Amino acid sequence: MVKEFSEHSPNSYTFPAKAIVQNLNFFYGSFHALKNNNFAIPENQVTALIGPSGCGKTTLLRCFNRMHDLYPGNRYGGEILVDSVNILSKKVDPIEVRMRISMVFQKPNPFPKSIYENVAYGLRVRGEKRRSIIDEKVEQALRGAALWDEVKDRLNDSGYELSGGQQQRLCIARALITDPEIVLFDEPTSALDPIATAGIEELINHLKEQVTIIIVTHSMQQAARFSDYTAFMYLGELMEFNQTEIIFSNPSNMRTKDYISGKIG
Ligand SMILES: Nc1ncnc2c1ncn2[C@@H]1O[C@H](COP(=O)(O)OP(=O)(O)O)[C@@H](O)[C@H]1O
Ligand SMILES: [Mg+2]
Repeated sequence: MVKEFSEHSPNSYTFPAKAIVQNLNFFYGSFHALKNNNFAIPENQVTALIGPSGCGKTTLLRCFNRMHDLYPGNRYGGEILVDSVNILSKKVDPIEVRMRISMVFQKPNPFPKSIYENVAYGLRVRGEKRRSIIDEKVEQALRGAALWDEVKDRLNDSGYELSGGQQQRLCIARALITDPEIVLFDEPTSALDPIATAGIEELINHLKEQVTIIIVTHSMQQAARFSDYTAFMYLGELMEFNQTEIIFSNPSNMRTKDYISGKIG
């Protein structure tokens, strides 16, 4: 379901929002890492999170799939609404959230399993046992990750035998198999060479037809190159959110200006 952000926000965006972040706070123990963030994530678009190292990009991204629940002492405040449901609510199962909102990490991290089993994993966790369904979904996910043609004849080889760029596409296939609505990427190309990076960027750009994308990047060039919207963060706060071309050509916040001109960061 699509919602207009303008109904919910002090700001007035008019795009269809896939997720709405309201008064989001996050604490690592007593450390207040995210401070009252309010913004919306546009549906079927690529939103880049940028800002200096340590500003809270990864922390924010990990709120979206409840990764912080895995460690004791972490605490959320506020809401992230996805289709009107607050996914931070204790009543919502974090495992279910991670099926709907999946994540791709900085370093490709295949499991020590075959290519096939790496991708099938999310379905097996869900309890799917029918081989024909799994076969079909694995192929679909690998096609979605632009990897099928390269691996279709070697599905039983170990995931470790793939190149870095292929491993990252394998991780993308693994993230796609549960038909997520949002896919989170945390600096997905920082361990890759320029050619593999270009491949992943092209793929992400294509994926937005199916899913909503949020990507953390420390590369302003990358954000400018292919994101539709950009959020600039500073010391745990969202400073500015706008269409990428506006953030990079005519930012309104002084800190955004300083960051994109290279004065901070
Ligand atoms: N597990 C943790 N425990 C305590 N503080 C953390 C933890 N992870 C990150 N932080 C702190 O939270 C802030 C934001 O970190 P992070 O989200 O990783 O920033 P970014 O991804 O923008 O570089 C930093 O001050 C960092 O030191
Ligand atoms: Mg980070």
